[in-house]
Amino acid sequence: MSSAIPPVKRDTAPSSSRRPLQAAFESLPAPTWVADLDGRYLHVSQAYAGLLGRQATDCPGLTLEEVLPLALGRLTMQRHRQLLESRGRKRFEQIWTVKGEPRWFEVHMSCLCDDAGAPMAVCGHIQDMTQHVERQETARRTQNELELRVAQRTRQLSATNEELEAFSYSVSHDLRAPVRQIGGFAELLQRQLGGQLASGHAEYLRHILDSTHRMDRLIGDLLQLARINRGDLRKVPVDLAALAREVLAGLAGHEPQRRVETALPGSAIADCDAGLMRIALDNLLGNAWKFTGRQERAHIEFGSLARDTATIYFVRDNGAGFALETAGRLFGAFQRFHRESDFPGTGVGLATVRRIISRHGGRIWAESAPGRGATFYFTLEASN
Ligand SMILES: Nc1ncnc2c1ncn2[C@@H]1O[C@H](COP(=O)(O)OP(=O)(O)OP(=O)(O)O)[C@@H](O)[C@H]1O
Ligand SMILES: [Mg+2]
Repeated sequence: MSSAIPPVKRDTAPSSSRRPLQAAFESLPAPTWVADLDGRYLHVSQAYAGLLGRQATDCPGLTLEEVLPLALGRLTMQRHRQLLESRGRKRFEQIWTVKGEPRWFEVHMSCLCDDAGAPMAVCGHIQDMTQHVERQETARRTQNELELRVAQRTRQLSATNEELEAFSYSVSHDLRAPVRQIGGFAELLQRQLGGQLASGHAEYLRHILDSTHRMDRLIGDLLQLARINRGDLRKVPVDLAALAREVLAGLAGHEPQRRVETALPGSAIADCDAGLMRIALDNLLGNAWKFTGRQERAHIEFGSLARDTATIYFVRDNGAGFALETAGRLFGAFQRFHRESDFPGTGVGLATVRRIISRHGGRIWAESAPGRGATFYFTLEASN
């Protein structure tokens, strides 16, 4: 390669104008060099020479390949030539072994041109990125370990959960047969002995029957709760308003004597599992129906509100309500805030609803006050 600047030989005595420049260069804190068109060092900082185990004053006049370790020298020289051709600048990363330790460097090289735009030298500097890379590596390792641990715990937890669910499912399932047998035989006794029983004994029998019916209902609810997490979630567009209308018609069919005003939109299409949402609305509207039982003018409303990108659905009633602050785990199983004699129930309904909503990725919450009715809100997809 021809050179516009004559190569500076090692033994060339520095001119008086070079000395301050060379001295300034040597004192630069960053590893820095300038090389001529042939790739011979013109100036190097002591920080640069130190990386190579040399003195800054030794380098001027030597070529990049003579000073740098073999492969690195060849590579740097290649880049040096490319830069002279492109007259551009380059940034690349390089691992370099310094005193037996691998170090990460970011190398910046750029072509220096004269006033006419002709290349006259290449200057470069190096940034030691080792600490930064090591910190990143440590953070990455910690993050990986954390993710691994979380995944492990999640696997353990879901295995335990599945075991518990399978256990409660089979316990509930196996309890059903003996409970039904007790109920069946008690009914037989009632039918066959009927009038022959003393009034106290007939009373005992009625208690046995009531309790077995209640237990049967409870087992049914528990089985339904356990089933919610089984099976696939089949999301399709569902008209929740039509579903709510059907549920309310069913409730009115069972208690035709009750007068309940209802308010529903023409339609409310949501992407959800129709079967599961039917169970959720059965429970929410069932509660609204039950807890307005003592209201002279019962009012039940189903509707939706648009909030940012999410849709919030709600079921509102003007019934007995409850004190939110004492409602604790409102959506936990067997949590009830009214006396059984006032409003019967097993306390599994809202736990079932919450599971259904969670399976859809949504959330559920309530607003209520004693004697002021209750509103249950829910979404069907995760919102940010
Ligand atoms: N709309 C409502 N108005 C007033 N209280 C309510 C309403 N919905 C729920 N609650 C309170 O929350 C409790 C839990 O409701 P949940 O539906 O889980 O049980 P439940 O209705 O008592 O029994 P079931 O298992 O038969 O549904 C109720 O017992 C009641 O105290
Ligand atoms: Mg209920």
